[in-house]
Amino acid sequence: MDGFLRMAIIHSGHLDLKRAPTMLAEAVERGLSVVRSVARHKGIALRFVPGTPLELPLDRGKIEQVVVNLVKNAVEHSHAGAEVVVTLEADTEGALLSVRDHGTGIAPTVLANLFEAYTGGDNKTAGERSVGLGLAISKLIVEAHGGRMQVETELGRGTTWTVHLPR
Ligand SMILES: Nc1ncnc2c1ncn2[C@@H]1O[C@H](COP(=O)(O)OP(=O)(O)OP(=O)(O)O)[C@@H](O)[C@H]1O
Ligand SMILES: [Mg+2]
Repeated sequence: MDGFLRMAIIHSGHLDLKRAPTMLAEAVERGLSVVRSVARHKGIALRFVPGTPLELPLDRGKIEQVVVNLVKNAVEHSHAGAEVVVTLEADTEGALLSVRDHGTGIAPTVLANLFEAYTGGDNKTAGERSVGLGLAISKLIVEAHGGRMQVETELGRGTTWTVHLPR
């Protein structure tokens, strides 16, 4: 999705989903492939633990975008030599996707407005640019699927995002 389209979606707050039965692990793999070269360049290993195969009615391209956004954030806030781990788990309600890094963590002041468009910290570890749309668009996509996003973070220790997607 290009920047202009993302901006238009954020401002309208509306998103049309094109859902089809989707193997979630394949969407994650495709999202990871987008970020892989950036990660390698920065010396960060991406590890994917796919768990039990799970098919859900998803807009695959949009879920890929969520994966790209979360993993890109994890890479941008990690230090060289670190690992970013993406896991998938199935539960009775659906799927849990998690993205864990051991990077900077998120400051409480940033945490308070995390999903607001165009806000963010200046804590990227290699001075990557910060538009401040990644999480806002991700939340919109996840909620359009009936899902929700949660974050656990500790300054200086890292961040774990969890995305719950219902069946
Ligand atoms: N994994 C993470 N570790 C530390 N801080 C994070 C992490 N993910 C998000 N953040 C914080 O949340 C802010 C908002 O993230 P978001 O993805 O919405 O915007 P961005 O990364 O700054 O810009 P964009 O994604 O549009 O390029 C980031 O600027 C950063 O301060
Ligand atoms: Mg981002």
